[in-house]
Amino acid sequence: LVAGIDSSTQSCKVVVRDAETGALVRHGSAPHPSGTEVDPRAWWDALEVAARAAGGLEDVSAISVGGQQHGMVALDEAGEVVRPALLWNDSRSGGASADLVAELGAQAWAEGTGTVPVASITATKLRWLAQHEPENAARVAAVCLPHDYLTWRLTGSTSLADLVTDASDASGTGYYSGATGGYRRDLLAHAFGRDDVVLPRVAGPREAVGVATALRAGAAVEGGALLGPGAGDNAAAALALGLGPGDVAISLGTSGVVSAVVAQPVADPSGTVAGFSDATGNFLPLVVTVNCAQVLDAARRVLGVDVDELAALALAAPAGAQGVVLAPYLQGERTPNLPDATGALHGLTLENWTRENVARAAFEAIVSALAVGIDAVRDLGLDVASIRLLGGAAKSPALRQVAPSVLGSDVLLPAAGEYVADGAARQAAWVLAAQRDGGDGDTALPAWETGAVEVASAPAAPHVREQYARAVPLHLDRAA
Ligand code: XUL
Repeated sequence: LVAGIDSSTQSCKVVVRDAETGALVRHGSAPHPSGTEVDPRAWWDALEVAARAAGGLEDVSAISVGGQQHGMVALDEAGEVVRPALLWNDSRSGGASADLVAELGAQAWAEGTGTVPVASITATKLRWLAQHEPENAARVAAVCLPHDYLTWRLTGSTSLADLVTDASDASGTGYYSGATGGYRRDLLAHAFGRDDVVLPRVAGPREAVGVATALRAGAAVEGGALLGPGAGDNAAAALALGLGPGDVAISLGTSGVVSAVVAQPVADPSGTVAGFSDATGNFLPLVVTVNCAQVLDAARRVLGVDVDELAALALAAPAGAQGVVLAPYLQGERTPNLPDATGALHGLTLENWTRENVARAAFEAIVSALAVGIDAVRDLGLDVASIRLLGGAAKSPALRQVAPSVLGSDVLLPAAGEYVADGAARQAAWVLAAQRDGGDGDTALPAWETGAVEVASAPAAPHVREQYARAVPLHLDRAA
């Protein structure tokens, strides 16, 4: 048996799967505080509860952790948390990101790290810390990411030298080069003003990075449970689905993500596409919006309906919501990079201001924003052969109609699953198989059955994207 963990923005999920077949054996989850600033110890507490809910980890032979990317986990000399982690969705470092880009230029960042800094990126959070909390900044002895912190806690070590990460998550820090496979300590020093901070060692994709001694993990297994390097959540999901070149995924969760697996590193100086690494040695260019499932939650709250009623309302409105357009920037935005933007409903008239149209506009907005990301991936010359829809919101019948109509193409709906935790579990099985093979680095990813795929189709409605592209800049101009 192997276990995969997903420490997401909202909760911790644990799956236990058969290492050979991938069959689901047990699972459990536990909430932790969400928001944009969270004490990492709360993630550990949630992991303990989720592991118990999943029937414990005593009998698993390997474990990997997937997690929300970019969060700045700052540790002091003793391995204690210096301050709550600033997460990917925290936009207070928007000014710091603009400064970093102005100082070195977008081209230098894109070529050096694959990414032009935005508020989500760890380097910008370190700049913010140095500027706004110098006393905390001075106490920082090590910086790691959410998934690294949990892997480290699983080892039971308190030595900063035992911190480990993987390329997929390192590539979201703003001080790691996926193209060369090494840290850019010069860029870290530029952002943070210090170059003496311990960074996690970047392990290979199927490397056993240690043994889990905490949570009685592997207590019933000879030698204890092996720990995999883990991965950022988007890379873990790609691993679960076995995505290859040409396969694009749209994940509709707390963040909206377009991701594509490619063999070569990507550098987009416009900043739209982040040139991250994947969890197999390839690359995973991403386009991320911070306004996704929460826009639907907000629409539900305003309309006083539940998830099913919101979908029914949206499905009762025509494509294009009779001209009602939502600019969905309820929490600023990352793509386009507008950390201070706000949202708006545009195009209302006495005739079209209906609950149905407002509901439809919410779905159309989050998909239109991600359709821009698919265009950006294509503009870089990358192949978009298929589009898979994932994430909690992808279960909505309204999205299953809105997505193909706005994107103008069929979308694939993989069988429901906990993709991030499943991808982490698959990595754990890979680590285990590599260990049995003598760890020589050639072991193939275990061929797990990834489940049936449905196809969602709807008539293309190009006017939806056209009216979104017209209305949103109008709102932004007015707000400016
Ligand atoms: C990726 C990103 C988000 C988080 C969400 O760049 O910021 O997808 O990983 O967990």
